[in-house]
Amino acid sequence: MPCTVVVGGFWGDEGKGKIVCYLALRDNVDFCVRTGSVNAAHTVHFKGKVFKLHMVPSGFVNEKCRLLLGAGANLHVPQLLKEIEETGVKGRIGVDNQCSIIEEKHTIQDRTNAHLRGLGTTGWGVGPAIEERVKRTAKLAREVDLLKPYLTDVAEEVNKAIEQGKNVLLEGVQGFYLSLYYGTYPYVTSRDTTASAICSEAGVGPTRVDEVLIVFKAYVTRVGTGPLPNELPREEVIRRGWFEISGTGRERRAAPFNYQLARRAVMVNGATQAALTKIDILFPECKGVTEYDKLSEKAKKFINKIEKELEIPVTLIGTGPAIYNIVDRRKTLQT
Ligand code: IMP
Ligand code: MG
Repeated sequence: MPCTVVVGGFWGDEGKGKIVCYLALRDNVDFCVRTGSVNAAHTVHFKGKVFKLHMVPSGFVNEKCRLLLGAGANLHVPQLLKEIEETGVKGRIGVDNQCSIIEEKHTIQDRTNAHLRGLGTTGWGVGPAIEERVKRTAKLAREVDLLKPYLTDVAEEVNKAIEQGKNVLLEGVQGFYLSLYYGTYPYVTSRDTTASAICSEAGVGPTRVDEVLIVFKAYVTRVGTGPLPNELPREEVIRRGWFEISGTGRERRAAPFNYQLARRAVMVNGATQAALTKIDILFPECKGVTEYDKLSEKAKKFINKIEKELEIPVTLIGTGPAIYNIVDRRKTLQT
């Protein structure tokens, strides 16, 4: 803090939702800004419920936190309204006047266009809506009656907050290797997913950011088509306990942690620290641990190797799905 960008280091689904929740509560975050679109799902375990958030920022768990969707975001209005209801954030969420809108026709195009099917898109209509935006024919949030109560100037709000020394979190979505520019093109999403792009979508200049926290999972997963180096056969993924179902209900492919890919993600994102999630899946004895010293030797060795290879500190270590299943080393490492 005060202004931190959270990004995904692989193909999304690294556990950013949980990390953002932890920071929102632990660091008393005042503003949580989400960008991107509904193709991303952030999973949040909170008060005995599991939320799969496609639109509402994960910082909602902190009741004092203002929630915003930046101008670069691409809104699916029915899903947004549904999540606002579910999370009960009506009075404290704002959407930028200039967010673009996913219309029904975009969803149909995403689900019927053979080329997009071949890429294994999530089918929400995000890509076609972005195409429309680039053509300069898109519908914007300011034209949607149902959004009137939420409209705001996000850039203005966020920059003011930063100036006042408030704690601001920019919640990135998806992952580095899904980036339109740096990912495994053409098997990528329709936007850049790096820290710089998140800042741009939120209306925050690069000089305003203090930390870039990159989130890696202890192993790599990918949904949809496209290359996944060292991909394991499905049976082996199941045997290792790495089998996961995505927010859109699809099976995730999996591979071991990849240092080379992680290094490049750190470089292009300008990451200053890393979070490592799901360490308890690799080392079950670490489940629920909250102190670094109580992690097993094998787990510590793995973390040390990551720090050595990436040359940034691993400050947060996820040890289970609950928000406080985390080892927070930020004080001891003095980043
Ligand atoms: P689209 O973003 O729906 O156009 O899908 C393009 C590719 O990105 C597909 O392979 C999707 O599975 C993948 N993708 C998009 N968003 C996410 C995400 O948040 N997590 C994981 N994969 C994603
Ligand atoms: Mg996800």
